[in-house]
Amino acid sequence: MANIDRLRGFIAQTARIVERHGADEAATLAALEPELAALIISDDFLPAAYTVPHPQYYQQYLLYGDPQDRFSVVSFVWGPGQKTPVHNHRTWGAIGVLRGAELSTDYTKQDGKLIPGPTEKLEPGRVVAVSPTIGDVHQIANAYDDRVSISIHVYGGNIGRIHREVFVPESGAVKPFVSGYVNADTPNLWAAE
Ligand code: FE2
Repeated sequence: MANIDRLRGFIAQTARIVERHGADEAATLAALEPELAALIISDDFLPAAYTVPHPQYYQQYLLYGDPQDRFSVVSFVWGPGQKTPVHNHRTWGAIGVLRGAELSTDYTKQDGKLIPGPTEKLEPGRVVAVSPTIGDVHQIANAYDDRVSISIHVYGGNIGRIHREVFVPESGAVKPFVSGYVNADTPNLWAAE
């Protein structure tokens, strides 16, 4: 059984951070990143239902959505070889790698085109951030073609409902995108141990 107390504690701490820092994105991320790093030291907090890959699509399981849409906590599960399209978020996000490893590539706009930066391998325990001010366009891939990778993401809004974009860097094509969530039920944060 999952150590749900650790997940509830992380969510409570995230709520305190967004309460304290409000729209100050840099202060929010600075306070949140060590909390996320502490959460992902162990995967004991994550119920098995939110670790299940799909044979074809990477999965986004909502773990918690703030009732005021100030933040959301999501489990991303990549099956072997799966990856996101190049996409943006339109809000801040912190990404913590829990299992496996991920390949992260940031993109920057130059002369109307999207230019990829270097691809970095993110190992378990690593936390990185995105946002419209520090760089909001990236692609994340499972680093492995023979196993599942999982990361925990925290965003400055309800990421499953935010209207954002996916990009095809080669053609410059832009498509509107709302990601949604694959789960109908969220973890019971109030369960007794
Ligand atoms: Fe992303």
